[in-house]
Amino acid sequence: MSAFHNVCQHRGARLVDGTGNCRTGRFRCPWHGFVYDLQGAVGAVPLRESFDPVELEGLRAPAVRVVEWGGWIWMMLSDDELLLSCYHEDAVDDHGMFVGDREEFADWVVGMHSATHLSHQHCLFNHTCDLDGDVAHAETYYMFAGMNREGTALVTSGGR
Ligand code: FES
Repeated sequence: MSAFHNVCQHRGARLVDGTGNCRTGRFRCPWHGFVYDLQGAVGAVPLRESFDPVELEGLRAPAVRVVEWGGWIWMMLSDDELLLSCYHEDAVDDHGMFVGDREEFADWVVGMHSATHLSHQHCLFNHTCDLDGDVAHAETYYMFAGMNREGTALVTSGGR
């Protein structure tokens, strides 16, 4: 399963309109004919010789994160790089109800909040870090406020 921003990397045209299937396995930009495959990579380029090859190297539609959660497929425009940058590559996130690596945590938390809340805010407070050799045990204290999709309109909580 893949999703991409619907913007041509040549001059910014909208690549597709409406809904439907892609029976050809390719998308052709309606402006100048750049062709994208289902992985978002640019393949055919009309008048390729008129472009600097460096500009076309690796050109692709920017991907959007897609996860399946709760029986639904969620596409997220969030900044994955920013979220993942909060963790060391080998970090384990222990949220009590979730334990896993940073990629698993990002999938879980964004899917869970998307399914549960219309909007939400986290305010972070104290942060502690205990070093034990080359292992760090970190805790961050927070306050949370969320507008629920169902039930009580507003929920607040705090914890670590
Ligand atoms: S804007 Fe898409 S090919 Fe030119």
